[in-house]
Amino acid sequence: MDSSFRAVKISDSVYWVGAIDWGVRSFHGYLTSRGTTYNAFLVIADKVTLIDTVKASFGEEMMARISSVIDPSKIDFIISNHSEMDHTGYLPQAIQAMNPSRVFASPMGQKALGMHFHWDQEIEVVKTGDKIDLGNKTLSFVEARMLHWPDSMFTYLEDEGVLFTNDVFGMHIASSERFADEIDLSVLKYEGAKYYANIILHLSPIVTKFLEKLPSFNLDMKIIAPDHGPIWRRDLNQVVEWYSGWAEQKPTNKAVVVFDSMWESTAKMARAVGDGLTENGASVKLMPLGGSHRSDVITELLDAGALLVGSPTINNQIYPTVADVMNYLKGLKPQNLIGATFGSYGWSGEAVKHLDQIMQEMKVNLVQEGLRVKYVPAEEDLATCRDLGAAVAARLVSTRNQIDG
Ligand code: FEO
Repeated sequence: MDSSFRAVKISDSVYWVGAIDWGVRSFHGYLTSRGTTYNAFLVIADKVTLIDTVKASFGEEMMARISSVIDPSKIDFIISNHSEMDHTGYLPQAIQAMNPSRVFASPMGQKALGMHFHWDQEIEVVKTGDKIDLGNKTLSFVEARMLHWPDSMFTYLEDEGVLFTNDVFGMHIASSERFADEIDLSVLKYEGAKYYANIILHLSPIVTKFLEKLPSFNLDMKIIAPDHGPIWRRDLNQVVEWYSGWAEQKPTNKAVVVFDSMWESTAKMARAVGDGLTENGASVKLMPLGGSHRSDVITELLDAGALLVGSPTINNQIYPTVADVMNYLKGLKPQNLIGATFGSYGWSGEAVKHLDQIMQEMKVNLVQEGLRVKYVPAEEDLATCRDLGAAVAARLVSTRNQIDG
């Protein structure tokens, strides 16, 4: 066993025994520029308990970190807070190696684990309010259904106020630091927002309800320990307040202009639209898809008020990179946006109509019908593009004024 992997103590009886994935750059379509961690936690109590495991390929790292504290065969209980394989990939091997007397999951977790591993392993079901006795410590449970899977669950170590929240409050950062207070706050806020936008955004109404209900569970939280990224031991309200704000999606005067181009015509239109927005008081983010990832587009939209999309027409369709982004954005259901579409075309020019259709399905409030230019935009076409930007900016400013009252 590689002894360079050590556990990190996070409270009197809890150790971080997870793994650091410095190299991962794609998390099913989400660009994880900073890598990630798969956090697992070991509770040293009369009944030694492991909370979550890691992605299968990182099992040896977890086992080495556990071994730096205790012989893994001494683990009595394993709790699975969430069935997704970044936390359960190594679970079957862990069960085999540790031979725990009991394994726990939520009701939906029990079912999901069965459908992942097709095993005869007994999984005991725990529900909100249930407790398990570790002898000298007590764990209790709060189901967090659809945050972000039906099986998702929080585990709470009552004696030390440690709340293990699985994906919720997590972020994709690989770092040698284990605690949020050791990492730059702007990095935490950006990566936290990116995680929220890409994984949780479409579940925002559930987040709002869950956060409203959270005080009723009487959790005296001293540590929030998610399964990705740093652990919060100070200013716990910070990350909770961020979630509350992101769930609200209050529109700002920011306009995100997403586009791609075949021969620079739609790009010229995008720049003119951007000028019209800027000159009329909007804060503009131009995102050419040659250099912008879909997961960065949705992150920018999290605090935006407008989405403008430009695409050339290719074979009667939306340009492939733009279609990809629209498919991704539609699934994540950003709210409270106004918008517009535009694009250059050669002869039939369907892309803009298709985009308008998708924007309507996304409930984006279109300021006007999509703007099309045949072949290469002339000066007067670019002036029309600036007018489009100006019209969207004017609507943004009036919406902001209504919100600000
Ligand atoms: Fe980190 Fe939904 O798994």
